[in-house]
This record gives sequence, C-alpha cells and structure tokens, in this order.
Amino acid sequence: MSIQLEKIKELIQLREKARLGGGERRIESQHSKGKFTARERLAMLLDEGSFEEFDMFVEHRCHNFGMEKTKFLGDGVVTGYGTIEGRLIYVYAQDFTVSGGSLSEMHAKKICKVMDQAMKMGAPVIGINDSGGARIQEGINALAGYAEIFQRNILASGVVPQISGIFGPCAGGAVYSPALTDFIVMTQGTSYMFLTGPKVVKTVTGEDVTQENLGGASVHSAKSGVAQFSVDTEETGINTIRQLISFIPQNNLEEAPVIENDDPIDRLDDALNDIIPDSANRPYDMYEVIGSIIDKGEFLEVHSDYAKNIIVGFARFNGQSVGIVANQPKFLAGVLDINASRKAARFVRFCDAFNIPLVTLVDVPGFLPGTGQEYGGVIVHGAKLLYAYGEATVPKITVTLRKSYGGAHIVMSCKQLRGDVNYAWPSAEIAVMGADGAVEVLYGREIAKEETPEKKAEVYAEKRNEYNKLFANPYEAARYGFIDDVIEPRNTRFRIIRALQQTQTKKLQNPAKKHDNLPL
Ligand code: HXC
Repeated sequence: MSIQLEKIKELIQLREKARLGGGERRIESQHSKGKFTARERLAMLLDEGSFEEFDMFVEHRCHNFGMEKTKFLGDGVVTGYGTIEGRLIYVYAQDFTVSGGSLSEMHAKKICKVMDQAMKMGAPVIGINDSGGARIQEGINALAGYAEIFQRNILASGVVPQISGIFGPCAGGAVYSPALTDFIVMTQGTSYMFLTGPKVVKTVTGEDVTQENLGGASVHSAKSGVAQFSVDTEETGINTIRQLISFIPQNNLEEAPVIENDDPIDRLDDALNDIIPDSANRPYDMYEVIGSIIDKGEFLEVHSDYAKNIIVGFARFNGQSVGIVANQPKFLAGVLDINASRKAARFVRFCDAFNIPLVTLVDVPGFLPGTGQEYGGVIVHGAKLLYAYGEATVPKITVTLRKSYGGAHIVMSCKQLRGDVNYAWPSAEIAVMGADGAVEVLYGREIAKEETPEKKAEVYAEKRNEYNKLFANPYEAARYGFIDDVIEPRNTRFRIIRALQQTQTKKLQNPAKKHDNLPL
C-alpha cells in the first residue's frame, strides 16, 4: 500500500472512531434510556446525506484528574451544517456518550464556530442539548466556554433564528443558552431543565421534588412557559423543529419561504356566519375560526399548553407565512392576564424580528382583574404586549370578531398601534367596557334608589339596551375610521389574503436608537 493510501486508511479509521463517540457500551446505555445519539438525531433532523461535520478531531486540553488519559474525538459535541428542505442550517448536538455531553473549553469552541459561521452566512442555528453541564474537571475554562456561547446567543438574537431541542439533561447555568434562543422543544420523560437540581433544592428549601416535577417538559410547557413545545418522542420533537423552520426565514433580512398553495383564496365558510353565539357570555372555539381561514387548516401552534386564553402560532395564507395571535373565548373567556401577555408579546416580537406578518383575531373582554394579577405586575406584563405590537413594523392585519374592550382593545393590535388593516365582523363590540360594567358605573346609584327589585331590573335592562345599541357594534369604531371595513365572517379568509397582498411592500421604520427599553 502506498504512503498516501496508508494515510487515507488512517483517516477512515479515525472517522469511524469519532463516529462511535464514547463507545458501544455508552451508546447502548443511551438507547436503553429511550434516547437517540447525537449523530442519530442530526441524521433525522437534516435532509438525507446533507450533513457536513466540522471538528471531528477536536480533543480537550485538560490535564486535571488524569483527564489526559480520557480523550474522545469530537469532545462530546457533534457540529456542522446541513439542509432542511434544501435550506442551509447550522447544527450542534451534544453527545451524552462522551463525558455525559459535558461542556469543556473545546466543546464550547466547536459550538461557537458553528454559531459564528451561521451569523456570517445568515442561517438558523439548531442546538440539541443533552449534557451534564459544565465539565467539572475543566473548572473555569468550562464556565468561560458557556459565557462565550451565551454572548453569541445574544448577538444572534433577532439576526438568525435559534432553536433549542432539549432531549436530555440541561441543568445549572447551561439552561441559559436555550433560554436565550427563540424556541425550546422538550421531550417528555427524558429531558429536564433547572438551575438547581432536586438535591440542592432539598438542602436549601427543604422541599422534596423529583427532576420531572422540578423541570420536566410538562412543567416548562404548561407552568413556567420556558418551553414552547413539549413532545412525547424525539422523532416528534425533530419533526416539530423541521416544521418550524418551514415557516420562518433564514435571517432578519429575508422573508419566509412562500410555498405553493392549492387552497382557493376565495374559499367561503358559511359556518363562520353562525359561529358567534347569541349570548355574549357564551364561548365558541377560536381554533375553529383559525382552522377555517388558513391554508388547509395547517397550524403550528406555539406554547399550546401555556396561557390557553391566548392562541399563538404559525400558519399560511395563500402560501405566505404569518404569525397568528388570537384570544380564546373558550378559556377564561379569552381574558388577557400576565401569562397570556408574556406569551403573545414574545411571539409578536419574534415575528416582527423575522419579517413575518401578524394576523390578530380579537375577542377579548379585557384584562383579568384582582390582586393576584396586580401583585404579579400585570401592568408591566400587559405593557409588554402593547409594546410588542406598537413597535412591530411588519404588516399587521386585525379582525375583531366579538368583544374588544378597554385597554385590551388597544393592546390587541388596534388601528392606533399602526395597524395596517383593521376589520371587524358585524358581531364586534368595540367599547370602553362591557354593558354590565358600564351600567353599574354610570347608573349604579340611580338604580339602587329604585324601590322594588322589579323596577331595578327594568331600569337596568333599559340602560343596558341603550348602551348596547350605542356600543355593542362595530359601526361606532368604523364611523371614525378605526375599523377599515365590516366584513362578512364567511369571507374572512379572502379579505385577509387581500390585506396581506396589499401590505406586501410595506416600509416602516422606527426611530433610530441604541436599543429600546421595553418593560421587562
Ligand atoms: C464531567 C460528567 C459530568 C460533568 C456527567 N459526567 N456530568 N463529567 N462533568 N458535569 C460524566 C459521568 O462522570 C459519566 O462518565 C458520564 O458523564 C455519564 O454520567 P452518569 O452520571 O453515569 O449518567 P446518568 O446516571 O445518566 O446521570 C446524568 C447526570 C449526572 C444527571 C447529568 O451525570 C450528573 O448529575 N452530572 C453532574 C451534573 C452537574 O452538577 N453539572 C454541573 C452543573 S453546574 P463515564 O466516564 O462514566 O461515562 C453547571 C454550571 C454551568 O453546569 C454554568 C454556566 C454559566
């Protein structure tokens, strides 16, 4: 064999060794926990044969605790690039079979390299986390590595989309990299995220809690809101990431891909003409409206288990990606509260950062009253959503279906927040507050003076009718041009598509500033 062929053989052997990560035994152990390896995950995530690996031969440089004797090619993270539906994507996947996927100085350098490359090329970064955290033997070098990644997450935010899959442990300060990214997908039963684990919790607070109850997928998708997606298997998680990528652009200077659409743009849905119940206090299901108006009913909901009184997610109109924000009358009457405001504000800001038009469907009775909300700072959290809509420069189309009262009316993308097209259904009620509250404030004392309960009820009904006649309709707002048109519900899809076509060339810039000071 020639010297050159010998060298090629050596390369092939080294590659095979690197691909084995921590070795067969640890790969089996990974599989026995119901988890895939880093390489298997990337193979599922990227288009077949598209993965190009970087830094396969990187090793750590640590000599503490005899570490020079335990080196693995790649040092616990697989990095590189590939494509999803033909579009360039940078990836890293932590390899739990090598020192528990723990993050060393060199491991961090590999992640930073793909992040830097993604920024130069203007392409999304997807990171799959499965790691015991900072490589203990490397001490401060591991911490420095995390800090380098965090800094890059911050600078990349709003420039290229960043998506985190949490498919195993993600603990301690390590959680802050995913937290700085745009979307977190967690697997049920096999992943967890927390700043301090159950043992530390027990020592400090005396509380007994399992890993799952402290930071499992259901905790973060339903209670804390840290994770946008909770999935039952890694395959579903990876499909969710691929689907998410299909709705979003490569970077902040590009538009989301437009896909071919065979759903007729003028498709009418008569059911929408009959969906609003006669009684203002009876709910209906906003998912039915969303499903009816978007292309083929294909809706990728974000944060589906969190703050269910507001629905956010991606859909398409005539093939064009939009972000949908909709109050859900079926849950807490669609009221805005702290969690709903935070959830929707984050989504609106993502869409605005990445040139995705916003379609807002309004049926909101107001903000949730009470000490719980006020003590929790609903003023500042509600202001986040107000701010997000007000600063957004993407096309903003709003349709008011029923209630739109008070501060919540303003927050939900009203005309004065630079709404481009504001439509209302004939059932819309746009007012300072609902009839009951208004009559109480304006005529409460007068009604109390009436002598009999029958007379009280009679005057109350009279005033209520008067108020409703004046305000429980869209025409009062339309008279002032705050509503551009009152539309037939069954025609909503077509009218939104026309509005999106009209606003395609929108150009709007906010005043120059170092950065904003949104109410955090
Ligand atoms: C070095 C580590 C490691 C770490 C795991 N390993 N975590 N090596 N540094 N942080 C190694 C183990 O020694 C073992 O090596 C292999 O990974 C698999 O670990 P096991 O414990 O056998 O696996 P398992 O039973 O599944 O438990 C996984 C685990 C546990 C729950 C993650 O390993 C664990 O508690 N690790 C420590 C977690 C931690 O406290 N990390 C520091 C957090 S603080 P072998 O050779 O046997 O395969 C932090 C600060 C970041 O990260 C700050 C950023 C700002």
